[in-house]
Amino acid sequence: MLFFKKKKAEVRAAVVLPEHIAIIMDGNGRWAKKRNLPRSSGHTAGAANFKTITRYAASIGVKYLTMYAFSTENWKRPQDEIGALMKLFQQYLREALDDFLEENIKVRFIGDVSVFPKELKKLIREVEEVSENRTGMVLNLAMNYGGRKEILRAFENIREDLQENKIQEVTEETVAEYLYTNGQPDPDLIIRPSGEQRLSNFLLWQSAYSEFVYFDILWPDFTPENLMQAIDIYSSRQRRFGGI
Ligand code: FPP
Repeated sequence: MLFFKKKKAEVRAAVVLPEHIAIIMDGNGRWAKKRNLPRSSGHTAGAANFKTITRYAASIGVKYLTMYAFSTENWKRPQDEIGALMKLFQQYLREALDDFLEENIKVRFIGDVSVFPKELKKLIREVEEVSENRTGMVLNLAMNYGGRKEILRAFENIREDLQENKIQEVTEETVAEYLYTNGQPDPDLIIRPSGEQRLSNFLLWQSAYSEFVYFDILWPDFTPENLMQAIDIYSSRQRRFGGI
């Protein structure tokens, strides 16, 4: 999809809008440390920015947005930080029951959410149900998500279905169908703020041909303009998918 962006000198440049953008929301802790605040304040600021960027992405016509909120490895953090994050998830998901309606955003969860506290699991189900029939941007919230675990889970389910003769062969398409992102296009663009340049177990299968854009900006400071910058960089890249 092409759309046009106003440049300073009123020159309009064509921008290729990625259909699927994925973001690793990193740098909340460092943002708080710089301000002598507890890490939980960084997560609070990060959660507020999650809403801002999600709304903005929907407003410019992004079709799929995947946000990495909590990884399978994040349980290694101190109990008080995990507690603060659970509280934030609870608060934002409750708000999400009414939120995102205007933007027509459909919310889905990727990851093993079965381990979350009962109340949070209930909210997760409610948010999915309430937004199920919306036709706008699909927001995938990655919670207790790990790319390796996702692939392993797919293999286990494929093995079961092979044994029960539900499927006869396994192709790349079969694997994709058994992932949480079944039916969705792979991410075109993956953005990581905070200066780190790694994937951290995010969308391992789906990112085979994704374009990466890294920012030296901490997640709470990441603005809609930064998102547009990433899209500009993406637009200037030549994607060859292994061809020439
Ligand atoms: C990584 O920054 C961030 C997280 C592990 C949590 C991300 C969660 C949010 C932004 C809140 C999202 C809220 C909702 C409702 C989806 P870090 O803590 O690793 O930062 P650091 O590398 O600077 O320490």
